[in-house]
Amino acid sequence: MAAPDVAAGVEGGTSLSESPTGEVKRPQFGTRFLSDPRQVFQHNAWDNVEWSEEQERAAKEKVSENSQPLPLEKQEEYDSRASDYWNDFYTVHENRFFKDRHWLFTEFPELAPQFSLSHESHPEVSGTDGVQRNRLDQEQCGETAALPHADGDFPGSSATYRILEVGCGVGNTVFPILKTNNDPGLFVYCCDFSSTAVELVKTNPESDPGRCFAFVHDLSDVEANYPVPDGTLDVIVLIFVLSALHPNKMQASISRLARLLKPGGVMLLRDYGRYDMAQLRFKKGRCLSENFYVRGDGTRVYFFTQDELHELFIGAGLEKVQNLVDRRLQVNRGKQLTMYRVWIQCKYRRAPIQGETTGLA
Ligand SMILES: C[S@@+](CC[C@H](N)C(=O)[O-])C[C@H]1O[C@@H](n2cnc3c(N)ncnc32)[C@H](O)[C@@H]1O
Repeated sequence: MAAPDVAAGVEGGTSLSESPTGEVKRPQFGTRFLSDPRQVFQHNAWDNVEWSEEQERAAKEKVSENSQPLPLEKQEEYDSRASDYWNDFYTVHENRFFKDRHWLFTEFPELAPQFSLSHESHPEVSGTDGVQRNRLDQEQCGETAALPHADGDFPGSSATYRILEVGCGVGNTVFPILKTNNDPGLFVYCCDFSSTAVELVKTNPESDPGRCFAFVHDLSDVEANYPVPDGTLDVIVLIFVLSALHPNKMQASISRLARLLKPGGVMLLRDYGRYDMAQLRFKKGRCLSENFYVRGDGTRVYFFTQDELHELFIGAGLEKVQNLVDRRLQVNRGKQLTMYRVWIQCKYRRAPIQGETTGLA
């Protein structure tokens, strides 16, 4: 079932370990480490959990036992009717899975007011102060002058900091941003291919048309227009959405999105990692292709490795800022159950002006 995974998934947002490929150092927010396995049921969750070789081997085995794909016609049906299944999902659940994501601004300070107000998204690369950066961004975005929207006739055209959330669902990310980020230059766009979800966002009392624009859009339809010109977004957010796409459509979708970023603009992603509990729980007959499954309600989910995501972003012409795996042990003390969660968190940016010699992929 989609929602419980999401609900559980988005709550775990504080304990990231370094990528094996070597990452920019960052503080560890999760601080509850399990050093004595006998104490596992003392708390509800443990951060930064190490997996033993045995555990990894067992997970691999479980996945391979259950890797027989469904017939092609079933796969095609789940693909062509993907938005219908999500519409059904939101018709049933409406916005009952709304979660106030306090981790959003710790993990993604790019969404927080101080960040957008200073506009110093990547000072270490730009080597300029915030004011200069804005000017450079605008010059670089001269390319947008030739585009249809560049006459300023698009929602949020006068904003100085633009965030787009793709696959926004009922607004779990958008509303906390609108509530928390008081930058007067902020404008937030959000889209989903479920018209039911978008309607729920639009009719939410916290929706503010002066600061936010919600629209129906299929991320995998790379021919469809976005309501903003290329090169105009500071931040694009993808939270548990890329995993819902057919793996064959991921690269083109990310490449299309990357074109919307300003030079120096950043794409933020949090999504399911390989061997997450949700993957290991799938029963036989739910596999669509390697590491890609269909839930009982017809919605689909892929489980990524860090390397796969790296390749997707690099393939879209973006540069790595962060690519981390978050392993958490959740504990049901009442039932004495342990659940190993695996999430991946990425930040990739469009090269700032100095580095941009060949343009985007
Ligand atoms: C697991 S939910 C996550 C929703 C939201 N990001 C959150 O974290 O609460 C996945 C969302 O992606 C949307 N989605 C799936 N495929 C999509 C596509 N091709 N284009 C746009 N949205 C899509 C679904 O409708 C759903 O709202």
